[in-house]
Amino acid sequence: MSTNTTQAVRLAAELRYADELQRLADADKDTRPPGWKLSPRAVRRFILGDEALQVSRKFFGDDPLIDRAIVTLMGHQGLMLVGEPGTAKSLLSELLTAAISGDSGLTVQGTAGTTEDHIKYSWNYALLLAEGPSQRALVPSPIYQAMRAGKLVRFEEITRCPPEIQDVMISLMSEKQLMVPELGDEARLFAQRGFNIIATANLRDRGVHEMSSALKRRFNFETVRPIRDLQFEIDLVMAQVTREFEGCERVSVPRDVISLLVTTFQELRAGQTQEGTAIKGLDATMSTAEAVNVAYAAALQAQHFNDGRLTPREIASQLQGVVFKDSQDDAKRVKHYFDTVVRERGRRDTQWKEFHDAARALWQ
Ligand SMILES: Nc1ncnc2c1ncn2[C@@H]1O[C@H](COP(=O)(O)OP(=O)(O)O)[C@@H](O)[C@H]1O
Ligand SMILES: [Mg+2]
Repeated sequence: MSTNTTQAVRLAAELRYADELQRLADADKDTRPPGWKLSPRAVRRFILGDEALQVSRKFFGDDPLIDRAIVTLMGHQGLMLVGEPGTAKSLLSELLTAAISGDSGLTVQGTAGTTEDHIKYSWNYALLLAEGPSQRALVPSPIYQAMRAGKLVRFEEITRCPPEIQDVMISLMSEKQLMVPELGDEARLFAQRGFNIIATANLRDRGVHEMSSALKRRFNFETVRPIRDLQFEIDLVMAQVTREFEGCERVSVPRDVISLLVTTFQELRAGQTQEGTAIKGLDATMSTAEAVNVAYAAALQAQHFNDGRLTPREIASQLQGVVFKDSQDDAKRVKHYFDTVVRERGRRDTQWKEFHDAARALWQ
């Protein structure tokens, strides 16, 4: 595996936040559950932030959810994070595995093509042919590695897997051991303490409800919801975009422009304006993740094509790619939103006026 991480687009959380994790470990006086790198309290601080230790907040919104998630992972059941796309399920599972096991890389990506080999183990066929089945010829899956090392393993989009694969998980999770019949009748791997599973599932995908009840029983379900608090969501988008442009003098990201973007997202997501007027919600998911993408792309546009100051114009221009993605109906709804809500606000506020006029000019 490549160790050249200096140019990586995105580092694993345990590398990105190595300093924070070190400070938390040094200050950690509480008991650590077997196999854990940090105590439950320190894990919480890693995710929700701690000013004294200069640890940043990484998940915004539902703090009690984090406590419940950590408690679940100490117990015998797995943790299942469900929710709309872009609600930070994957982010949370990455942060939890990085803090608890120091390794967020043991991940199975669920797809329609996921097989039993992906879940258990496969073989290095050259070695298998040369020497027959041996420990050396066995290629362990991420789950195998996690059991052996007493770490957490992530299972992304578990409901996309065929049902028979989900069933393999049932015996694995209840017995916490994995048989390797090719290495002899008794050959098995016992999960070491610290092993557990964090699965994620999107509510938009078919299948969450078709998951067998036997498998459901092996997980504690937590629903991750979009951020409801306007200021929190603005904080988050601001933080993520400014981080991207750290050290770039030419870019300025005014908070009121981000506020306008996030307000638009929240209103189209909820199907209701701040003033309480009902509007038509969209088919497209207006997730925080999408808001971050729009803000980032708009800032890039400002940096490279304009004078570097993000304005409602770039937001309107980048918004198109999100809201006109899924359906014709969405396009109509968004136009209606601009013709009524945005226009009305534009009478009192120059930013909203600029937003309205730019969108009109672009989408005619
Ligand atoms: N509540 C939240 N707290 C922090 N970041 C969030 C939150 N909701 C969304 N995000 C942003 O959305 C991004 C993508 O989320 P992701 O974990 O891929 O979503 P999911 O797996 O639920 O589809 C995150 O990296 C983060 O930038
Ligand atoms: Mg995800």
